[in-house]
Amino acid sequence: MLFDANVKTITTKRLRLRLFDKSDAANVAGLCNNYNIYKSTMYLPFPYKVEDAVSWIDRHSDNFKAERSYEFAITDKETGELFGAIALSHNHHFNNGELAYWIGEEFWGNGYATEAAEALLQFAFKVKSYHKVFARYFASNPASGKVMEKLGMKKEGILIDHIRKDDHYEDLLHYGILNPYE
Ligand SMILES: CC(C)(COP(=O)(O)OP(=O)(O)OC[C@H]1O[C@@H](n2cnc3c(N)ncnc32)[C@H](O)[C@@H]1OP(=O)(O)O)[C@@H](O)C(=O)NCCC(=O)NCCS
Repeated sequence: MLFDANVKTITTKRLRLRLFDKSDAANVAGLCNNYNIYKSTMYLPFPYKVEDAVSWIDRHSDNFKAERSYEFAITDKETGELFGAIALSHNHHFNNGELAYWIGEEFWGNGYATEAAEALLQFAFKVKSYHKVFARYFASNPASGKVMEKLGMKKEGILIDHIRKDDHYEDLLHYGILNPYE
């Protein structure tokens, strides 16, 4: 795994994680305007418009500089094709952060979420010296739970009917991992 000097890009076996640019907005909207992504995420709108992507990408740079959150585009290392996004929040007070991700449906099942998340864990623990990283997923979305288990994260609990999604409530599973380098 390779981090560049200011950690604006991370290179893994197959992926290049880089900052989003406004020019990605149409691609982001193309991938995110999908009910199958919407139904498993907490904050994505549906339908998802290009303007949603523009205002989302607009906030990344300030958040990155202020070390509030680090949002990376997940791209093919060779071709540059956009596969999805992965973010790590940074709570300096608690010395922890939350991992969150989505992958465009046409790219599911290739291990991209796991490979990108492994890189973000290294970034959190080795570069930013977090004590802990956590992640949460809806009980109706076992694929995300599988990603967390492949990362070595441990199930810490279930929050019952914690999230209202449209006309129903979702149980939320909470996973965490401590910094193994401390
Ligand atoms: C969850 C998501 C990010 C996974 O992305 P991905 O790149 O396909 O993930 P990976 O290929 O790294 O791993 C997925 C694993 O889940 C498994 N899986 C897929 N569907 C599953 C299901 N219904 N039940 C159990 N496991 C499932 C896959 O087999 C794979 O495990 P394996 O490598 O042991 O075979 C993607 O489906 C997605 O973006 N979904 C919508 C948004 C979302 O859920 N974001 C996360 C919110 S917490």
